[in-house]
Amino acid sequence: MKKVDVVLGMQWGDEGKGKVVDVLTPNYNVVARFQGGPNAGHSLHFNGKSFVLHTVPSGIFRDGATNIIGNGVVIDPVILLDEISQIETMGVDCTKRMKISKRANLILPTHRILDAANEAAKGKSKIGSTLKGIGPAYTDKIARVGLRIGDINSAEFKNRYEALKASHLATIANLGFTDFDITEYEAKWFESVEALRKFEFIDNEVVVNNLLASGEAILAEGAQGSLLDVDFGTYPFVTSSNTLCAGACTGLGVAPSRIGNVFGIFKAYCTRVGAGPFPTELFDETGEALRQIGHEFGATTGRPRRCGWLDLVALKYTVMMNGTTSLIMMKCDCMNDFDTVKAAVGYEVSGKQIDWFPYEANDVEVKPVYKEFKGWKCDTTKCRTYDELPQELKDYIKFIEDYCGVPVNIISVGPDRSETIFR
Ligand code: IMO
Ligand code: MG
Repeated sequence: MKKVDVVLGMQWGDEGKGKVVDVLTPNYNVVARFQGGPNAGHSLHFNGKSFVLHTVPSGIFRDGATNIIGNGVVIDPVILLDEISQIETMGVDCTKRMKISKRANLILPTHRILDAANEAAKGKSKIGSTLKGIGPAYTDKIARVGLRIGDINSAEFKNRYEALKASHLATIANLGFTDFDITEYEAKWFESVEALRKFEFIDNEVVVNNLLASGEAILAEGAQGSLLDVDFGTYPFVTSSNTLCAGACTGLGVAPSRIGNVFGIFKAYCTRVGAGPFPTELFDETGEALRQIGHEFGATTGRPRRCGWLDLVALKYTVMMNGTTSLIMMKCDCMNDFDTVKAAVGYEVSGKQIDWFPYEANDVEVKPVYKEFKGWKCDTTKCRTYDELPQELKDYIKFIEDYCGVPVNIISVGPDRSETIFR
């Protein structure tokens, strides 16, 4: 029986999952999303065109690939339908290429309002949510009151919707949040729910395991990053799902023993959007240079991303929890002009040096201990083989491999599909 390979973000999201999935898809018959929702923004660049996917798996543009939205995903029908319409203008028939889990929970219009009301109530301790209703939708899932894709076909759907909406409105009123009007969005939401009926709603756990049994190659596409995991991320500054590899098991219905390769994507530096600890964050011109050269502005919200040096302590921590078998390095080309490059190899916390990501990171100063590397100072974007890369960059990569104990098997040297080196 085949195994499911998993692609994950190893940092705080925005590592380049869209590009990597798109590049890996020719080796897979199926691409499946297993957690998160429209808070994700996965960018793809090919044939001079760019695309940002939020809910649709990044295999949608490859002929012959089946795309599955798994049970662990939360779906806003309006955003999903918008996305589908845009993809279909490129001549791609999504109804043929994509199937949706009956068990995926729905994001209601009032979940979005709740998200905004919760954030407003937090004042200064805001999480910096994308405000897509992710937290409230997962809250209802865990509270066992959520509505799911499979419920769309139930005669009770509208009644259950109204009951849930009424309870949301009561909570929103309790929070003193009044600045909203869902009339227009709600109308669009119901139209989109209707339009979703043209898709096949599946028992994804059965479909996925049958596909494996028949020898199909499946790639599970993570959203967000390991450091935003609800259990192991920098809680409460996290998203509301398990972004780690384990999430692929619960979000698709596959057993842990059915997980194969785990591809961990990381940027050659770090970024974070939203609030929360970020030990290697730079507040100087180097941080600004990374933001400008790397176009570090949110694909979902347009917010400027916080930028800093690569954090190997954090990377090793997420490698450990994900069982990462291969690392994939993105955007080293953004540092081509740097004289020196740094990476954190330890932290100093309350006068002690440690080499793991501390629970206390929200409350105490976590001071990175850096190792400095000589910059490679040349254009790497035309390199297509590992041998062509400058020695200084190879040294940087070798250090990362030794520190994390995992090989760096793919190196991206530019946003396009073609700008990729396989080792
Ligand atoms: P992709 O898949 C980066 C962050 C938000 C916020 C926190 C909680 O593109 O890598 P939420 O909307 O989930 O309530 O926000 O998580 N966040 C992301 N940051 N990339 C993402 O997705 C993210 N999805 C959520 O900025 O700090
Ligand atoms: Mg993104």
